[in-house]
Amino acid sequence: MNKGDLVRGILAKRSRKISVAGKAAAAANIALCKYWGKRNQELNLPTTSSLSISLGSLGTQTAVEPAEKDRILFNGETISAEHPLATRLLDFIRMLCGKQDTGILVNTKNSIATGAGLASSASGFAALVKALDLACGWHLPPRDLSILARLGSGSATRSVFDGFVQWHRGAREDGLDSFAEPLPHAWRELRVGILTVLDTEKPVGSTTAMNRTTKTSPLYQAWPDKVARDLPVLLDAIENRDFQTLGETAESNALSMHATMIAAKPPVMYWQPESVAWMHRIWDARANGLPLYFTMDAGPNIKLLFLKKMEADVLNLAPHTEVVDPWAAHL
Ligand code: DP6
Repeated sequence: MNKGDLVRGILAKRSRKISVAGKAAAAANIALCKYWGKRNQELNLPTTSSLSISLGSLGTQTAVEPAEKDRILFNGETISAEHPLATRLLDFIRMLCGKQDTGILVNTKNSIATGAGLASSASGFAALVKALDLACGWHLPPRDLSILARLGSGSATRSVFDGFVQWHRGAREDGLDSFAEPLPHAWRELRVGILTVLDTEKPVGSTTAMNRTTKTSPLYQAWPDKVARDLPVLLDAIENRDFQTLGETAESNALSMHATMIAAKPPVMYWQPESVAWMHRIWDARANGLPLYFTMDAGPNIKLLFLKKMEADVLNLAPHTEVVDPWAAHL
Protein backbone atom coordinates (compact mmCIF):
# COMPACT_ATOMS: atom_id res chain seq x y z
CA MET A 1 0.00 0.00 0.00
CA ASN A 2 1.36 3.41 -0.96
CA LYS A 3 0.03 6.93 -0.43
CA GLY A 4 -1.65 6.93 -3.85
CA ASP A 5 -3.62 3.73 -3.13
CA LEU A 6 -4.71 5.03 0.27
CA VAL A 7 -5.87 8.36 -1.19
CA ARG A 8 -7.73 6.59 -4.02
CA GLY A 9 -9.49 4.40 -1.45
CA ILE A 10 -10.58 7.35 0.71
CA LEU A 11 -11.59 9.60 -2.19
CA ALA A 12 -13.27 6.85 -4.24
CA LYS A 13 -16.03 8.30 -6.44
CA ARG A 14 -15.25 11.84 -5.26
CA SER A 15 -14.07 14.59 -7.59
CA ARG A 16 -10.39 15.53 -7.40
CA LYS A 17 -11.02 18.87 -9.07
CA ILE A 18 -10.44 22.10 -7.15
CA SER A 19 -13.58 23.80 -8.42
CA VAL A 20 -14.45 26.49 -5.87
CA ALA A 21 -12.64 28.49 -3.19
CA GLY A 22 -12.20 26.60 0.08
CA LYS A 23 -10.95 28.28 3.23
CA ALA A 24 -10.27 26.63 6.59
CA ALA A 25 -8.31 27.03 9.81
CA ALA A 26 -6.60 24.57 12.12
CA ALA A 27 -4.94 25.05 15.49
CA ALA A 28 -1.39 23.93 16.20
CA ASN A 29 -1.07 21.26 18.85
CA ILE A 30 1.39 20.30 21.51
CA ALA A 31 1.72 16.66 22.47
CA LEU A 32 1.39 15.68 26.13
CA CYS A 33 2.35 12.12 25.12
CA LYS A 34 4.62 12.35 22.09
CA TYR A 35 4.63 10.75 18.67
CA TRP A 36 8.25 9.75 18.14
CA GLY A 37 8.95 7.02 15.60
CA LYS A 38 7.22 5.55 12.55
CA ARG A 39 6.38 1.97 11.78
CA ASN A 40 5.72 2.97 8.16
CA GLN A 41 7.54 5.93 6.58
CA GLU A 42 5.47 6.22 3.44
CA LEU A 43 2.14 6.37 5.28
CA ASN A 44 3.39 8.16 8.41
CA LEU A 45 2.13 5.34 10.60
CA PRO A 46 3.32 5.82 14.17
CA THR A 47 5.01 3.27 16.41
CA THR A 48 2.77 4.38 19.30
CA SER A 49 -0.42 6.31 19.96
CA SER A 50 -0.08 9.92 21.15
CA LEU A 51 -2.12 12.64 22.85
CA SER A 52 -2.14 16.40 22.38
CA ILE A 53 -3.82 19.64 23.30
CA SER A 54 -4.61 22.20 20.63
CA LEU A 55 -3.29 25.74 20.83
CA GLY A 56 -6.47 27.80 20.41
CA SER A 57 -5.85 30.77 18.14
CA LEU A 58 -2.28 29.73 17.29
CA GLY A 59 -2.28 27.89 14.01
CA THR A 60 -2.83 28.20 10.28
CA GLN A 61 -5.52 29.59 8.03
CA THR A 62 -5.45 28.40 4.42
CA ALA A 63 -7.49 29.22 1.34
CA VAL A 64 -7.26 27.20 -1.90
CA GLU A 65 -8.88 28.10 -5.22
CA PRO A 66 -8.52 27.54 -8.96
CA ALA A 67 -6.39 30.21 -10.65
CA GLU A 68 -4.71 30.96 -13.99
CA LYS A 69 -1.36 29.71 -12.75
CA ASP A 70 0.08 28.25 -9.57
CA ARG A 71 0.69 30.89 -6.92
CA ILE A 72 1.54 30.45 -3.26
CA LEU A 73 1.06 33.26 -0.76
CA PHE A 74 2.65 32.73 2.62
CA ASN A 75 1.84 35.24 5.36
CA GLY A 76 0.69 37.74 2.72
CA GLU A 77 3.71 37.44 0.41
CA THR A 78 4.11 35.47 -2.80
CA ILE A 79 6.82 32.81 -2.48
CA SER A 80 8.56 31.22 -5.45
CA ALA A 81 7.42 27.79 -6.65
CA GLU A 82 10.92 26.49 -5.80
CA HIS A 83 10.68 27.55 -2.16
CA PRO A 84 10.70 24.35 -0.03
CA LEU A 85 7.40 25.32 1.57
CA ALA A 86 5.76 25.89 -1.83
CA THR A 87 7.03 22.55 -3.17
CA ARG A 88 5.80 20.74 -0.05
CA LEU A 89 2.33 22.30 -0.34
CA LEU A 90 1.99 21.79 -4.10
CA ASP A 91 3.30 18.20 -3.98
CA PHE A 92 0.79 17.44 -1.24
CA ILE A 93 -2.09 19.01 -3.19
CA ARG A 94 -1.11 17.02 -6.32
CA MET A 95 -0.90 13.82 -4.29
CA LEU A 96 -4.49 14.36 -3.12
CA CYS A 97 -6.03 16.04 -6.16
CA GLY A 98 -3.89 14.89 -9.10
CA LYS A 99 -3.14 17.17 -12.06
CA GLN A 100 -5.57 20.08 -12.45
CA ASP A 101 -6.55 21.76 -15.71
CA THR A 102 -6.12 25.16 -14.00
CA GLY A 103 -3.43 26.61 -11.77
CA ILE A 104 -3.94 26.65 -7.99
CA LEU A 105 -3.84 29.66 -5.68
CA VAL A 106 -2.90 28.80 -2.11
CA ASN A 107 -3.04 31.55 0.46
CA THR A 108 -1.75 30.42 3.83
CA LYS A 109 -1.18 32.39 7.02
CA ASN A 110 0.55 31.15 10.14
CA SER A 111 0.18 32.74 13.53
CA ILE A 112 3.17 30.76 14.82
CA ALA A 113 6.86 30.73 13.90
CA THR A 114 7.63 28.23 11.11
CA GLY A 115 10.26 25.57 11.81
CA ALA A 116 10.97 26.46 15.44
CA GLY A 117 9.49 23.31 16.96
CA LEU A 118 6.11 24.99 17.32
CA ALA A 119 4.28 22.45 15.17
CA SER A 120 3.47 24.76 12.24
CA SER A 121 3.46 21.80 9.82
CA ALA A 122 0.75 20.16 11.94
CA SER A 123 -1.71 23.04 11.64
CA GLY A 124 -0.49 23.70 8.07
CA PHE A 125 -1.43 20.28 6.67
CA ALA A 126 -4.61 20.05 8.75
CA ALA A 127 -5.84 23.45 7.47
CA LEU A 128 -4.89 22.53 3.90
CA VAL A 129 -6.78 19.23 3.97
CA LYS A 130 -9.88 20.96 5.40
CA ALA A 131 -9.63 23.68 2.72
CA LEU A 132 -9.32 21.04 -0.04
CA ASP A 133 -12.34 19.21 1.37
CA LEU A 134 -14.35 22.39 0.72
CA ALA A 135 -12.66 23.33 -2.58
CA CYS A 136 -13.30 19.87 -4.09
CA GLY A 137 -16.65 19.27 -2.32
CA TRP A 138 -15.56 15.98 -0.72
CA HIS A 139 -17.58 16.29 2.54
CA LEU A 140 -15.35 13.67 4.13
CA PRO A 141 -15.90 12.58 7.74
CA PRO A 142 -13.34 14.29 10.06
CA ARG A 143 -11.70 10.90 10.73
CA ASP A 144 -10.80 10.58 7.03
CA LEU A 145 -9.54 14.18 6.96
CA SER A 146 -7.26 13.26 9.84
CA ILE A 147 -5.91 10.27 7.86
CA LEU A 148 -5.22 12.49 4.84
CA ALA A 149 -3.54 15.17 7.01
CA ARG A 150 -1.34 12.40 8.43
CA LEU A 151 0.14 11.85 4.97
CA GLY A 152 1.50 15.43 5.09
CA SER A 153 2.93 15.23 8.60
CA GLY A 154 2.21 12.83 11.44
CA SER A 155 1.31 15.48 14.01
CA ALA A 156 -1.15 17.05 11.51
CA THR A 157 -3.41 14.03 12.15
CA ARG A 158 -4.23 15.56 15.55
CA SER A 159 -4.55 19.18 14.35
CA VAL A 160 -7.74 18.37 12.43
CA PHE A 161 -9.48 18.54 15.85
CA ASP A 162 -9.49 20.95 18.78
CA GLY A 163 -9.00 20.43 22.50
CA PHE A 164 -7.52 17.17 23.78
CA VAL A 165 -6.91 14.84 20.85
CA GLN A 166 -5.76 11.23 20.80
CA TRP A 167 -4.09 9.78 17.73
CA HIS A 168 -4.69 6.03 17.71
CA ARG A 169 -1.70 4.08 16.49
CA GLY A 170 -3.85 1.54 14.65
CA ALA A 171 -2.70 -1.89 13.58
CA ARG A 172 -3.68 -2.17 9.93
CA GLU A 173 -1.05 -2.16 7.19
CA ASP A 174 -3.08 0.32 5.14
CA GLY A 175 -3.31 2.79 8.05
CA LEU A 176 -7.09 3.18 7.86
CA ASP A 177 -7.32 2.70 11.63
CA SER A 178 -4.58 5.24 12.40
CA PHE A 179 -6.52 8.47 12.89
CA ALA A 180 -7.15 11.07 15.57
CA GLU A 181 -10.19 11.61 17.75
CA PRO A 182 -11.07 14.47 20.09
CA LEU A 183 -11.64 13.64 23.76
CA PRO A 184 -14.98 14.76 25.21
CA HIS A 185 -13.31 16.88 27.93
CA ALA A 186 -12.86 20.63 27.88
CA TRP A 187 -10.55 21.59 30.76
CA ARG A 188 -11.09 25.32 30.49
CA GLU A 189 -8.72 26.33 33.28
CA LEU A 190 -5.73 24.70 31.59
CA ARG A 191 -3.20 27.04 29.98
CA VAL A 192 -0.18 26.53 27.74
CA GLY A 193 2.61 29.10 27.85
CA ILE A 194 4.99 29.45 24.92
CA LEU A 195 8.44 30.41 26.07
CA THR A 196 10.46 31.17 22.97
CA VAL A 197 14.14 30.58 23.53
CA LEU A 198 15.13 30.81 19.87
CA ASP A 199 12.82 31.35 16.88
CA THR A 200 15.12 30.39 14.03
CA GLU A 201 14.72 27.33 11.81
CA LYS A 202 15.74 24.13 13.64
CA PRO A 203 19.02 22.46 12.51
CA VAL A 204 17.55 18.95 12.10
CA GLY A 205 13.92 18.43 11.02
CA SER A 206 11.68 16.23 13.15
CA THR A 207 11.33 13.53 10.45
CA THR A 208 15.12 13.11 10.19
CA ALA A 209 15.58 13.25 13.96
CA MET A 210 12.84 10.70 14.56
CA ASN A 211 14.20 8.27 11.96
CA ARG A 212 17.76 8.61 13.21
CA THR A 213 16.57 7.95 16.76
CA THR A 214 14.64 4.82 15.87
CA LYS A 215 17.57 3.45 13.86
CA THR A 216 20.52 4.33 16.10
CA SER A 217 19.45 5.13 19.66
CA PRO A 218 19.96 2.30 22.17
CA LEU A 219 17.36 4.01 24.38
CA TYR A 220 14.60 3.89 21.76
CA GLN A 221 13.55 0.35 22.66
CA ALA A 222 12.25 1.66 25.99
CA TRP A 223 10.07 4.33 24.30
CA PRO A 224 6.95 2.27 23.37
CA ASP A 225 6.76 1.01 27.00
CA LYS A 226 7.04 4.56 28.29
CA VAL A 227 4.12 5.63 26.07
CA ALA A 228 2.10 2.57 27.09
CA ARG A 229 2.50 3.66 30.73
CA ASP A 230 2.00 7.43 30.25
CA LEU A 231 -0.99 7.47 27.94
CA PRO A 232 -3.57 5.89 30.32
CA VAL A 233 -2.25 8.02 33.19
CA LEU A 234 -2.74 11.18 31.11
CA LEU A 235 -6.22 10.13 30.00
CA ASP A 236 -7.21 9.56 33.66
CA ALA A 237 -5.64 12.86 34.74
CA ILE A 238 -7.67 14.70 32.09
CA GLU A 239 -10.87 12.97 33.09
CA ASN A 240 -10.30 13.69 36.79
CA ARG A 241 -8.85 17.21 36.29
CA ASP A 242 -5.73 16.08 38.16
CA PHE A 243 -3.31 18.80 37.13
CA GLN A 244 -0.30 17.54 39.07
CA THR A 245 -0.44 14.11 37.43
CA LEU A 246 -1.00 15.68 34.01
CA GLY A 247 1.99 18.01 34.43
CA GLU A 248 4.34 15.38 35.89
CA THR A 249 3.49 12.83 33.23
CA ALA A 250 3.68 15.21 30.26
CA GLU A 251 7.03 16.59 31.46
CA SER A 252 8.48 13.14 32.04
CA ASN A 253 7.23 11.99 28.62
CA ALA A 254 8.91 14.94 26.86
CA LEU A 255 12.20 14.45 28.73
CA SER A 256 12.18 10.73 27.89
CA MET A 257 11.65 11.49 24.20
CA HIS A 258 14.59 13.91 24.26
CA ALA A 259 16.70 11.31 26.09
CA THR A 260 16.13 8.85 23.21
CA MET A 261 17.34 11.37 20.64
CA ILE A 262 20.32 12.58 22.67
CA ALA A 263 21.50 8.95 22.62
CA ALA A 264 21.18 8.73 18.79
CA LYS A 265 24.22 8.65 16.50
CA PRO A 266 25.01 11.43 15.74
CA PRO A 267 23.12 12.91 18.69
CA VAL A 268 20.13 15.15 18.19
CA MET A 269 20.19 17.87 20.82
CA TYR A 270 17.49 20.49 20.35
CA TRP A 271 18.10 22.13 23.73
CA GLN A 272 19.98 25.40 23.89
CA PRO A 273 21.72 26.49 27.11
CA GLU A 274 18.75 28.82 27.70
CA SER A 275 16.30 25.89 27.39
CA VAL A 276 18.15 24.04 30.14
CA ALA A 277 18.36 27.21 32.26
CA TRP A 278 14.56 27.48 32.02
CA MET A 279 14.10 23.84 33.05
CA HIS A 280 16.05 24.61 36.24
CA ARG A 281 14.04 27.79 36.87
CA ILE A 282 10.81 25.81 36.48
CA TRP A 283 11.99 23.03 38.82
CA ASP A 284 13.11 25.64 41.39
CA ALA A 285 9.78 27.48 41.16
CA ARG A 286 7.98 24.16 41.58
CA ALA A 287 10.08 23.28 44.64
CA ASN A 288 8.92 26.64 46.02
CA GLY A 289 5.26 25.78 45.54
CA LEU A 290 4.33 26.94 42.03
CA PRO A 291 2.44 24.17 40.16
CA LEU A 292 4.18 24.64 36.83
CA TYR A 293 5.35 21.97 34.37
CA PHE A 294 6.78 21.98 30.88
CA THR A 295 6.93 20.01 27.67
CA MET A 296 9.13 20.43 24.60
CA ASP A 297 8.99 19.27 21.00
CA ALA A 298 11.65 19.09 18.28
CA GLY A 299 13.11 22.51 19.05
CA PRO A 300 14.65 24.61 21.82
CA ASN A 301 11.43 26.28 22.98
CA ILE A 302 9.60 25.45 26.18
CA LYS A 303 5.86 25.03 26.46
CA LEU A 304 4.64 25.65 29.99
CA LEU A 305 1.64 23.87 31.45
CA PHE A 306 -0.29 25.59 34.24
CA LEU A 307 -3.76 26.51 35.46
CA LYS A 308 -5.39 29.88 34.78
CA LYS A 309 -5.30 30.87 38.45
CA MET A 310 -1.47 30.67 38.33
CA GLU A 311 -1.10 32.93 35.30
CA ALA A 312 0.12 36.01 37.25
CA ASP A 313 2.77 33.92 39.04
CA VAL A 314 3.91 32.32 35.80
CA LEU A 315 4.23 35.72 34.11
CA ASN A 316 6.13 36.98 37.10
CA LEU A 317 8.64 34.13 36.64
CA ALA A 318 8.72 34.29 32.81
CA PRO A 319 7.38 37.69 31.63
CA HIS A 320 7.86 36.93 27.92
CA THR A 321 5.57 33.90 27.98
CA GLU A 322 2.82 33.90 25.37
CA VAL A 323 -0.18 32.55 27.25
CA VAL A 324 -2.46 30.35 25.16
CA ASP A 325 -6.01 29.38 26.00
CA PRO A 326 -6.38 26.00 24.24
CA TRP A 327 -10.12 26.57 23.87
CA ALA A 328 -9.91 30.03 22.27
CA ALA A 329 -11.38 30.32 18.77
CA HIS A 330 -9.21 29.84 15.66
CA LEU A 331 -7.50 32.88 14.18
C1 DP6 B 1 8.29 16.03 18.62
O1 DP6 B 1 4.76 15.36 12.88
O2 DP6 B 1 6.73 16.87 12.54
O3 DP6 B 1 6.44 17.21 17.70
O4 DP6 B 1 5.42 12.91 10.71
O5 DP6 B 1 7.81 13.20 10.07
O6 DP6 B 1 6.18 15.08 9.70
P1 DP6 B 1 6.56 13.87 10.55
O7 DP6 B 1 6.93 14.42 11.99
P2 DP6 B 1 6.22 15.52 12.87
O8 DP6 B 1 6.80 15.11 14.30
C2 DP6 B 1 6.34 15.64 15.49
C3 DP6 B 1 7.17 15.19 16.60
C4 DP6 B 1 6.95 15.92 17.90
C5 DP6 B 1 6.02 15.12 18.80
C6 DP6 B 1 4.54 15.20 18.55
O9 DP6 B 1 4.05 16.21 17.99
O10 DP6 B 1 3.85 14.26 18.95
